[in-house]
Amino acid sequence: MIKVPLCALVVFLTTQVLASPAQTPLRDIVSENETATSAAPRKLHGRFLHITDMHPDPHYSFHASTSKSCHGKKAKKKRKRAGYWGTPDVECDSPLRLIDLTLDYLDKNWADEIDFVVWTGDNARHDEDHHIPRTLDEILDQNKRMAMKMEKIFSKKGIPVVPSLGNNDIWQQNILAPGPNKITNEFASLWSPFIPFPQRQVFQRGAYYSTEVIPGHLAVISLNTLYFYDSNKAVGGCQYGDDDDPGNLEFDWLEVQLKQFRDKNIQVMITGHIPPSLGNYYPECYVRYTEMSLRFQDTILGHLYGHMNLDYFSFMEEIDLEIIPGEEEEGPRAKGGRNGLYETLLREFEQLPEESEEERLDGLAVINVAPSVVPNPFVPAFRIFSYNVSGDGLMGARKQREHGHRRGRKGNKDDVCKDKRYDKSWKCHLQKSWHTDRDAPSRRNQALTPLGYAQYYMPDIATANKTQAPRYELEYVTYPVSALGSGDWEPVPVRHLPRALREGRKGKRYAPYGLRDLTVGSWVGLGRRLGQGAEKRVRRRFREYMGVSG
Ligand SMILES: *[C@@H]1O[C@H](CO)[C@@H](O)[C@H](O)[C@H]1NC(C)=O
Ligand SMILES: *[C@@H]1O[C@H](CO)[C@@H](O)[C@H](O)[C@H]1NC(C)=O
Ligand SMILES: *[C@@H]1O[C@H](CO)[C@@H](O)[C@H](O)[C@H]1NC(C)=O
Repeated sequence: MIKVPLCALVVFLTTQVLASPAQTPLRDIVSENETATSAAPRKLHGRFLHITDMHPDPHYSFHASTSKSCHGKKAKKKRKRAGYWGTPDVECDSPLRLIDLTLDYLDKNWADEIDFVVWTGDNARHDEDHHIPRTLDEILDQNKRMAMKMEKIFSKKGIPVVPSLGNNDIWQQNILAPGPNKITNEFASLWSPFIPFPQRQVFQRGAYYSTEVIPGHLAVISLNTLYFYDSNKAVGGCQYGDDDDPGNLEFDWLEVQLKQFRDKNIQVMITGHIPPSLGNYYPECYVRYTEMSLRFQDTILGHLYGHMNLDYFSFMEEIDLEIIPGEEEEGPRAKGGRNGLYETLLREFEQLPEESEEERLDGLAVINVAPSVVPNPFVPAFRIFSYNVSGDGLMGARKQREHGHRRGRKGNKDDVCKDKRYDKSWKCHLQKSWHTDRDAPSRRNQALTPLGYAQYYMPDIATANKTQAPRYELEYVTYPVSALGSGDWEPVPVRHLPRALREGRKGKRYAPYGLRDLTVGSWVGLGRRLGQGAEKRVRRRFREYMGVSG
């Protein structure tokens, strides 16, 4: 197991960034000045929260039938009765009291420990109860309630919140037409505390925006993945040449954003609701997403998503940009539930390069999918990520990164693209050279590099009752045990560690992965270990977290 060097961390304690969050005082900013600064310097903690898929349901009713979306009157059969705080593993959403308990807990215990919040959507119920159909008013009401809570708990205290739009935050489900429209306008208003003023207009057009959560250093881009999602029949799916397609317009915007941030030497975290995959996205949208992620690998720190209500990671790969003659006749890939996904991931992980094969790491990007708060199918969970605030980059003396190895990626394109069948694919039209840099924060641990996460969950939700509320506990960390609670800097505040870890006993079960950081190489290393299966324990834990039975 690799140990995290903890010596250079003293610097952290003095780290101050002279800036205000881009968005907090947005309502008070008189000029339209994104970089306008207010008084207090903000001390960075080197942590942020990722929370997703809360799915509050105002109709949830204690003891109602679990086969009726937990709505209506008391169920006759005892085993069909909805739980007081929520009901795992049935088709129900969250009672409002679960959401309140969760956010109050975060307010009390975590708000003082984090620098910003990534919040990736679905803030309305998803059920299809025909007796109480979902309406746009109800969806917006729930979103408003959540936005106000998030603002009160975080933004008002100077902690930027970065929401993104989920497929259940709109009506009809999954369907979103190009903006400006009622939905994009409503959210522009609901989220005005979170969206920097200069981004408002772009948001009204497409429900995406970016915000500098550490001004001048770190930005979060919130994508509207509904324009890429293959269940959204109101869009064209990023066809090459369809310049007005909202998906293509969004990628054009993303490219400009990434270029601008790169020029300013600002690192970027990309976030959204539906994770990129061939199963989720229109094929051409997936190609554009993958190409841009790899082209800007030196600028993008990670890709954080929700929607799946599952805990896993996956890769976008250079081979996704190659043309495989005959492939188009096979039709779309099978989606196949969580067992199918688990098997698919292991098969793909098996093919990953060695962590040391630097050149092949140039062609990989990692997607992190976080589990949901709604206990469907599992128990509620959220993640606290940490990132490096002790490296040089945040101390002022930031060196302009070399432009690195630039390489054109052509693969087999020269010949194949002469074929008329392929001429219409983006794969034949993405010739720009890549910004690949082995010394970038996504590749080598330094300022802003994501270091790991701690996942909290609520194992006692089913047994808790009105008088005995359920509690969040540590489920696992990606760090090695040696990195916890021993140095000047705590990736997880010691008071939030279970006693076994605090006292250095039997802590190992919380730390099955032992990752020294979350660079592309570290994820590839873990993926390979999982794919090759020599470490049975690691595989078993990954599977357990993913909730795959049998
Ligand atoms: C915007 O902010 C920058 C940096 O604080 C400042 O130099 C500039 O004058 C401001 N512009 C306006 C229009 O207020
Ligand atoms: C942060 O990056 C610096 C290099 O810039 C490194 O020395 C330090 O160990 C890193 N911190 C952590 C906690 O990994
Ligand atoms: C609630 O749970 C606690 C602990 O399991 C138990 O002692 C108590 O009797 C329960 N209360 C009710 C009202 O069921």
